Amino acid sequence: RRLLGTATATGAAGLVAGGTGVTAVLRDTGDESVPLTTVGATRVPFHGTHQAGITTPLQAAGHLAAFDLTPGAGRKQAAALLRRWSRTAARLTAGEPASDGDTGIALDAGPSSLTVTFGFGHTFFDRTDLTARRPAALAPLPPFSADALDARRSDGDLWVQIGADDPLVAYHALRAVLRDAGETATLRWQTRGFNRTPGATAEPRTARNLMGQVDGTNNPTPADDDFAARVFVPAAGQPDWMANGSYAVFRRIRMLLDRWETLPLERQERVIGRRKSDGAPLSGGGEHTPVDLGKFGADGALAVAGDAHVRVAAPASNGGAAMLRRPFSYDDGLRDDGAPDAGLLFIAWQADPRHGFVPVQRKLDRGDGLSRFLRHEASALWAVPGGAADGEYVGQRLLE
Ligand code: HEM
Repeated sequence: RRLLGTATATGAAGLVAGGTGVTAVLRDTGDESVPLTTVGATRVPFHGTHQAGITTPLQAAGHLAAFDLTPGAGRKQAAALLRRWSRTAARLTAGEPASDGDTGIALDAGPSSLTVTFGFGHTFFDRTDLTARRPAALAPLPPFSADALDARRSDGDLWVQIGADDPLVAYHALRAVLRDAGETATLRWQTRGFNRTPGATAEPRTARNLMGQVDGTNNPTPADDDFAARVFVPAAGQPDWMANGSYAVFRRIRMLLDRWETLPLERQERVIGRRKSDGAPLSGGGEHTPVDLGKFGADGALAVAGDAHVRVAAPASNGGAAMLRRPFSYDDGLRDDGAPDAGLLFIAWQADPRHGFVPVQRKLDRGDGLSRFLRHEASALWAVPGGAADGEYVGQRLLE
């Protein structure tokens, strides 16, 4: 067996652990095993200040699942469920089986950056007699004029977001989560998403969506001074059980791809305000050059059009409102009308949706060039508590 760098072998499963905590899987090529990638063995800790799956780099495969508590289930049963879910998530994200009767779906694939993130919906608090502790920020999202929402695929009492860099690992986690739900909660809706596979590009690059655009460039990053304030509820924030938590807005946004794909490249770029090839703003520079919204071209017109998505969505156009967009793409085949049922599982993370998603979507709803090619078909808002410490479960401070 050939080992890379400082790595040392740790057993029959072929797992190799390095001094940095980075692990690599060996590929058997006959006379020797060589590491194929570190993707399978990469581990994202479940325990921590914040839940995993918020600032974790985009994963290649994901499932979003919403549950409703069963009629007999209240706070006590919900607490037991969150305890089961947290225990399962801690095991799976460490690359261990879920339980003795594990399905075996991910037996040889490593944790593959698996994250399992839990959230509470508005209705959860009435069902568990915890209405008094429901955060004001969890007020239902206002209606938007372009909404065409399907209630059966929206909302719910509880939310589980699963992400992993391997589809079998992600599905394994989904099965375990469903089994844990037992008689306490029933699945309300579920949907599956994907992103680019890590390592598919020669160097790390911002992801693309199904419209072909580089998507995620102007996200807040942890290096920004105001990142934590924008994305997370402060440690001393209210309500106390949401300390270090975040609010996730989910929108299932179908793309009118047949129409979009017939649009000439120049028009596509005008709609967003960025170049398709490399995501550079139409005001000049490279992908990460700040957008100059005041710049005029030689033709006397604004370089970034008045209704360009990046202008209308920018914090500068929305009183500073910002959010961390961490989506998955989705593809559910063709609709009855023959159009692709595909688009973006838009997930935006923020400290308070009333100062993040809501004002931005209001603005987009009125004058965004991109909206002509989109349909918002499902929606949900989740209170995602802070991360659990070792030995704790997610939501313990609310439910104990
Ligand atoms: C920026 C695509 C929906 C908020 C962008 C960019 C693209 C994009 C390509 C430019 C690159 C970047 O900075 O990430 C899309 C697509 C959508 C969608 C395809 C739907 C399928 C939304 C929604 C919101 C939103 C619903 C919020 C309500 C933003 C924000 C930016 C952005 C805040 C950054 C603007 C800036 O500061 O430059 N989007 N977007 N987007 N989008 Fe969207």
